[in-house]
Amino acid sequence: MQPVRISVNGKQHELLVDPLASLLHVLRDGLHLSGTKEGCGTGYCGACTVLVDGNAVNACLYFAVDADQREVTTIEGLAPDGAALHPLQAAFVACNGLQCGYCTPGMIVSAAALLAEDPSPSAEAVRHGLAGNICRCTGYQPIVEAVLSAAEQLRAEGRAGDAAARPARLRARA
Ligand code: FES
Ligand code: FES
Repeated sequence: MQPVRISVNGKQHELLVDPLASLLHVLRDGLHLSGTKEGCGTGYCGACTVLVDGNAVNACLYFAVDADQREVTTIEGLAPDGAALHPLQAAFVACNGLQCGYCTPGMIVSAAALLAEDPSPSAEAVRHGLAGNICRCTGYQPIVEAVLSAAEQLRAEGRAGDAAARPARLRARA
């Protein structure tokens, strides 16, 4: 077992982890953050997407030990306890961007990373940004509409490049 110190959604955790354990396993089974989903387990579906230092990664392929000293943001971190839904979450609901919902946490986290980089994406840029996330239900169009709607909302609120999706050290500079 190997000691790691990981910040997850702003909370510091000191953990002993198997050097071969995935970040997904540690988040779900170690920290009981079940919002992040396991789909394929092999890097194809994007259901397990989380942010590590602001970058979207497939948590099923990311070793937990590699998250040592890093900031991880999961879907739970976009709307912490008691907070209102993140504009992306609200937009997915309003635009019918989900049906079964299994892909949704990964989609929203990927979209948050996209909007942090590009607050005014085109529909094409949204499709490109979410290319690593598979949805079996929606046909994708409502998801694209949801992300564009959330981007507009974030800009209207003056939250373009929403800080919630950024690592702490970038938030500190913002
Ligand atoms: Fe990680 Fe599918 S579960 S990419
Ligand atoms: Fe079912 Fe996307 S809403 S897989």
